[in-house]
Amino acid sequence: MSTDLTTLYGGVTSRRVTTRDLQLAKDRGERWAMLTSYDMLSAQVFEQAGIPVLLVGDSAGNNVLGYADTVPVTVEDLLPMVRAVARSTARPLVVADLPFGSYQESPAQALRTAVRFLQSGAQAVKLEGGARVVAAVQLLVTSGVPVMAHLGLTPQSVNVLGGYRVQGRGDAGEQLVSDALALQEAGAFAVVLEVVPGELAERVTKELLIPTVGIGAGPSCDAQVLVWTDMAGLTPGPGPKFLKRYADLRGVLSEAASAYADDVREGRYPSAEHGYS
Ligand code: KIV
Repeated sequence: MSTDLTTLYGGVTSRRVTTRDLQLAKDRGERWAMLTSYDMLSAQVFEQAGIPVLLVGDSAGNNVLGYADTVPVTVEDLLPMVRAVARSTARPLVVADLPFGSYQESPAQALRTAVRFLQSGAQAVKLEGGARVVAAVQLLVTSGVPVMAHLGLTPQSVNVLGGYRVQGRGDAGEQLVSDALALQEAGAFAVVLEVVPGELAERVTKELLIPTVGIGAGPSCDAQVLVWTDMAGLTPGPGPKFLKRYADLRGVLSEAASAYADDVREGRYPSAEHGYS
């Protein structure tokens, strides 16, 4: 069976992307893109567009659920989103974020939470942290749960980090490299590097055998991830400097809603073309 991500999305096969496919892509020097998704329609669009990995991220907190950050997000919030994304797609690897408080207590707690996500349709989980989570990663992987690690700016720790600032400068860079190696050793299949200097991401990408997935970490990573609502211009404001907006969905949707409201007010909708005289 082919493991070429492009071929998978050329319609040659309809099987799901696996973590092995992602490893082989790194071995071949083939880059790939990951997007967040929280619902059926966006997941279907991204699958059709050939996105091989969908992350049901706890960024749902500030993109779907109306929170200021990811800290209040719970397992119960994310489970229905994981089910929706998994049910409505056939090809992308679905990664579920373990939310704040659902894995930090002990490796056993991490496993209990991860099992719920895998039994809801995810094929892998993501969790934040370095040395602190190595034992949890080991237990998950040996229990059959593929793990994507997450280093650098870890938003669940925003209250300790003192805001959304660049991580991994100076000595912290050495710590990040050793954390990344320890997570690889523990069995993680990929590592997200969020908002770290590009040179550090390049070094980690070269030193690791497993793929790195960058967000605000420069062009050297094996893969990139963006929050889909940022990527498509649905979230307001310019966003962080690293962000590229590929569309203006906020503008398009706002214009459509205004035009609809005007039509209803002026009696233009519904009309003859919709079967009414
Ligand atoms: O929750 C999320 O969207 C994430 C990505 C930004 C990596 O963790």
